[in-house]
Amino acid sequence: MHIWAVANQKGGVGKTTTVVTLAGLLADQGLDVLLLDLDPHGSLTSYFRYDPDALERSAYDLFEPSVTSAEQVERLLVDTSHARITLIPASTAMATLERKSIGSEGMGLVVSRALAHLWDRFDYVLIDSPPVLGVLMVNALAACKRLIVPVQTEFLAIKGLERMVRTLAMINRARSEKLQYHILPTFFDRRTQASVQSLRLIKQTYPDQIAHAIVPVDTKFRNASAVGVVPSVMDPATHGVRAYSMLLRWLQQQEQQLTLQQSRAQILTK
Ligand SMILES: Nc1ncnc2c1ncn2[C@@H]1O[C@H](COP(=O)(O)OP(=O)(O)O)[C@@H](O)[C@H]1O
Ligand SMILES: [Mg+2]
Repeated sequence: MHIWAVANQKGGVGKTTTVVTLAGLLADQGLDVLLLDLDPHGSLTSYFRYDPDALERSAYDLFEPSVTSAEQVERLLVDTSHARITLIPASTAMATLERKSIGSEGMGLVVSRALAHLWDRFDYVLIDSPPVLGVLMVNALAACKRLIVPVQTEFLAIKGLERMVRTLAMINRARSEKLQYHILPTFFDRRTQASVQSLRLIKQTYPDQIAHAIVPVDTKFRNASAVGVVPSVMDPATHGVRAYSMLLRWLQQQEQQLTLQQSRAQILTK
């Protein structure tokens, strides 16, 4: 099971869109995908027509100390408009979790432990995280093996990116296995100077972290969310979906390389 998260300490940069679009493309490959909505705003949850204000069960329950068994975690799964995509929805009540201390015993590993129960059920897990560095984002970062950081191609967003990169450096000091993260330029519009220049700046500043795909501005994303189906089903040939296909191909290559490196390292240490 591959666990990827999408995060940035800024809202409106395309996090939820990245999660939904990649999920659709993975599902198109015949893979089973679990989406975990850890953002109390619940945009991902609303995308699939569940109401974060009215849900009886949600990702909130994962943080209840009494929820420990595989059956209890499985009870949180709900269907979506796509047969191969399952969701653990968010509820607005999850905002209260952010007030809890990250330092308290095991609080940062709640999601990792819960996902361990679902190990054989899904090929991929994609986690959508809130734009706040709190308990929920820390859980997302601890559970994932790979992180995508969408960043709008505009100058103010790049400031926010610096903050996110500092956060990741801090997290990586505490992790034994380094978190691989990729910066994904979004809302790119090649007709505007601001977009072109900020893309250049991101490439210069983060040459090793930049993903090999750029997501253009594409109004089709909003149309797909209005209907509640994944963008690749709604309109597979649109520019935006094609950019995410390129991203996915590149991410899957990265994943294969990592697996090869790891098996090589294992052989060498034997
Ligand atoms: N590449 C894009 N082009 C045009 N609109 C987009 C694009 N990506 C996202 N959007 C739209 O912008 C809004 C915010 O995107 P969203 O993915 O919800 O951001 P976040 O999760 O970071 O807050 C949504 O209405 C979404 O449909
Ligand atoms: Mg979002």
